[in-house]
Amino acid sequence: MSGFLTDAYLWFKALHIISAMSWMAGLLYLPRLFVYHVEVHAESQEARRFSVMERRLLRAIMNPAMLATYIFGVLLLATPGVVDWSSGWIWLKILAIGVLTGSHHAMGKWRKDLAEGRNTKSQRFFRIANEVPTIAMITIVIMVVVRPF
Ligand code: HEM
Repeated sequence: MSGFLTDAYLWFKALHIISAMSWMAGLLYLPRLFVYHVEVHAESQEARRFSVMERRLLRAIMNPAMLATYIFGVLLLATPGVVDWSSGWIWLKILAIGVLTGSHHAMGKWRKDLAEGRNTKSQRFFRIANEVPTIAMITIVIMVVVRPF
């Protein structure tokens, strides 16, 4: 098993980066859609169109991309010699992954609330929510590439 993981390491890393990019695309764009969505009347045709776009983005792109990021990330973790658990960067990366996963689930709830006309959040709230995955992504990339500690 460990020989297979070592042989496939670069392929798994490439697939991990591709899926993480797709997941991030959704995490950064979905709150932007919420910002535009709250601007329009809740019962309008435009609101319904935003709901369809939001549902498709979450179900067709973000959910599978998150799953794939986790699967390939865990395969990389299991590859011998890739992660030294005594270094700090991996722990901060795991914390930032927790923030991304929490943001993903919160966005799923906000999407449902908007689609069912139960949203109570403001446009300003969604603008601020947009910054959370941005900061987590910057943290992750610095951790995996620079590994400062
Ligand atoms: C979801 C759970 C995740 C796990 C378990 C995980 C785990 C890992 C592991 C073990 C590596 C290999 C490090 C190495 O080859 O030295 C890696 C590489 C990488 N990860 Fe993740 N990761 C996850 C999520 C993410 C996310 C969300 C992003 C981007 C926002 C990301 C970006 C990267 C990048 C860019 C690399 C390549 C670093 C390099 O070797 O230059 N990962 N990941």
